[in-house]
Amino acid sequence: MITSANISEIRAQVKAWHAQGETVAFVPTMGNLHQGHITLVREACHRADHVVVSIFVNPLQFGQHEDLDAYPRTLNEDKLALAEAGAGLLFTPTPQIIYPRGLDAQTYVEVPGISDELCGQTRPGHFRGVATVVCKLFNLVQPDMALFGKKDYQQLQVIRTMVEDLSIPVDIIGIDTVREPSGLAMSSRNGYLTAEEKALAPALKRTLDNLAAAVKTAMPIPQAIAQAKAALADAGLRPDYLEIRNAHNLAPVTDTDTALVILAAAYLGKARLIDNLEFSR
Ligand code: PAF
Repeated sequence: MITSANISEIRAQVKAWHAQGETVAFVPTMGNLHQGHITLVREACHRADHVVVSIFVNPLQFGQHEDLDAYPRTLNEDKLALAEAGAGLLFTPTPQIIYPRGLDAQTYVEVPGISDELCGQTRPGHFRGVATVVCKLFNLVQPDMALFGKKDYQQLQVIRTMVEDLSIPVDIIGIDTVREPSGLAMSSRNGYLTAEEKALAPALKRTLDNLAAAVKTAMPIPQAIAQAKAALADAGLRPDYLEIRNAHNLAPVTDTDTALVILAAAYLGKARLIDNLEFSR
């Protein structure tokens, strides 16, 4: 695996692959890789001739009081795992390379509406930071396709909307969430949980399963959600939001919608956990 922080080198390598008629898949990450990321890389290897991964802890998507400085950085371990999973090229830019004029002077990509709801309400500016860096990484790497985990369901919808609105020629592929045997969705931020909290955390996925089951048995959505929020609080989690939306566009549910998604965020100790569940009724 070639590792480079140099934009010209990354571009030259991808250009050489394309010149040979070969396809390139891209997996953008912030590092501290777990099995969820490795699954994305393995899937990417099945779908394309070459896989490019980026590791960049993007300051633009962290709020002022968020965990940018504390965000776990494990480059050496990540490199070993990526090489073993089959990645061919690793891009490791610095903030100066991605934002040479500084964060305040940077041109932004803003996906309206969807960016301001759910996680966007608690984390204002977060999705603007995500859309901006993903757009920029797409322009730098110029892949044929890019893979994202469905654990960040709203992020995936923001990126799909951006790609459609800006006619970016990259296929966006969503990959199912990878979970611990307990049901807890894998996340770099699970590292913030104490052993005790880790035992409580699977209550989030259990609550989503029970909520979907309740809605399928025709319990009115507001009642089912109130019940689920109470269950989360009983389990020791503090719900941030818990909502059911149209699975395709995240719009509020109408009577005729059949493909639905439950989206949830809840605080547990120092961690803010997010999870979701697609289901149909
Ligand atoms: O999901 C992530 O790790 C990040 O939001 C992403 C897509 C790499 C952009 O920084």
